[in-house]
Amino acid sequence: MSQSIQSVPVETLREFVLEVFRGLGVPEEEAAICRDVIILSDLRGIDSHGVGRLAMYHDRIRTGIQSPTTNLEVVKETETTATLDGHHGMGHVISYRSMRMAMDKARAHGLGAVAVRNSTHYGFAGYYPIMATREDMLGLTVTNARPGVAPTFGVQPMIGTNPVTFGAPTDLPFPFVIDAATSITQRGKLEYFHRRGEDTPEGLAIGRDGTSQTDTGPLLKDLVSGAAAMLPLGGVGELYGGHKGYGYGTMVEILSAALSGGSYLWDLAGFDEEGTAQPFRLGHFFLAIDISHFIEPAEFRRIATDILQKLQQSKKAPGHDRIYVAGEKEYDIEQERRSNGVPINDTLRATLRRVKSELDIGGYDFL
Ligand SMILES: NC(=O)c1ccc[n+]([C@@H]2O[C@H](COP(=O)([O-])OP(=O)(O)OC[C@H]3O[C@@H](n4cnc5c(N)ncnc54)[C@H](O)[C@@H]3O)[C@@H](O)[C@H]2O)c1
Repeated sequence: MSQSIQSVPVETLREFVLEVFRGLGVPEEEAAICRDVIILSDLRGIDSHGVGRLAMYHDRIRTGIQSPTTNLEVVKETETTATLDGHHGMGHVISYRSMRMAMDKARAHGLGAVAVRNSTHYGFAGYYPIMATREDMLGLTVTNARPGVAPTFGVQPMIGTNPVTFGAPTDLPFPFVIDAATSITQRGKLEYFHRRGEDTPEGLAIGRDGTSQTDTGPLLKDLVSGAAAMLPLGGVGELYGGHKGYGYGTMVEILSAALSGGSYLWDLAGFDEEGTAQPFRLGHFFLAIDISHFIEPAEFRRIATDILQKLQQSKKAPGHDRIYVAGEKEYDIEQERRSNGVPINDTLRATLRRVKSELDIGGYDFL
């Protein structure tokens, strides 16, 4: 399917996203937080978690399984830790405030850790560790997600794509940010293939017979019913380390659910046994480490930068003239998109047009 692509200026997109959240009943200050997470995702080239997700949030709020207003309850708190209940509010707001809380605790005591239950989709995980890097802290977050990934030697989707995301400040123009799922691919990327009318490459997902499933449309449906599964990092079996991706995905499930007293595995499916839509009840975990409690931040950044530069400058494989470090490609894309706008294709434009029309938003002729 050939798609025409239009570049939309970031400011226009920022205003549109804010209007959508306002229209959905998200209070002004909280709508701005949601907007900032979504727009940074698009700016960094993480198209799977940017404006492409607006229709999903719209539909979940309209169905009543996610609340546009966020009531973040402190269930338990110490100087360095907190357990929070998000009561199915806006995942971006819950997560922004949780990371902020972890950072405030870290500033005072060196470390801050916050576990959250009953949250909703928090978007691209990188946003929260990046908050920490801006204040000379290390940030880490994990989240569980609805079941989509099969355990090693299994075919049933049991754990989520469960990203592990870590950020550290550097003296480079960008922080180190490793922000990725513990599966080879994630649902947002499959939806992105679907919007572009593309097949899913071999080796990323399997059907009940254990062989690759590549037809993206049916695959997305089968993932929901449990008839197909994505594969953990490393792929099928043990040969390429699939058991390691499976183990790290399970670690995320434990940090997100067991520590917060929250839900896990198929209780995150988003529907009950009758197929009725239910809140997703996601759990997250946030950790902030204040570098100054360990070492002078300038010395930390010098060493971190030296590590990254030595990796970048190491010998290249045939056919490659550049070695990247995590966070670098996103930085490059952000510079380009801030100047030239965010690309929106026909399929995405049609989805955004639907949201715009259902919320009765005027203007925005690019749609
Ligand atoms: N909220 C959720 O439930 C959820 C679930 C899964 C994924 N996600 C998000 O989806 C996004 C994409 O996840 P993904 O698993 O598809 O990630 P990905 O496979 O696109 O990998 C991205 C990471 O790898 C780094 N990277 C890319 N190429 C590199 C190279 N050549 N050398 C060094 N580093 C390189 C990037 O800087 C980035 O940190 C992430 O932002 C993640 O947070 C969210």
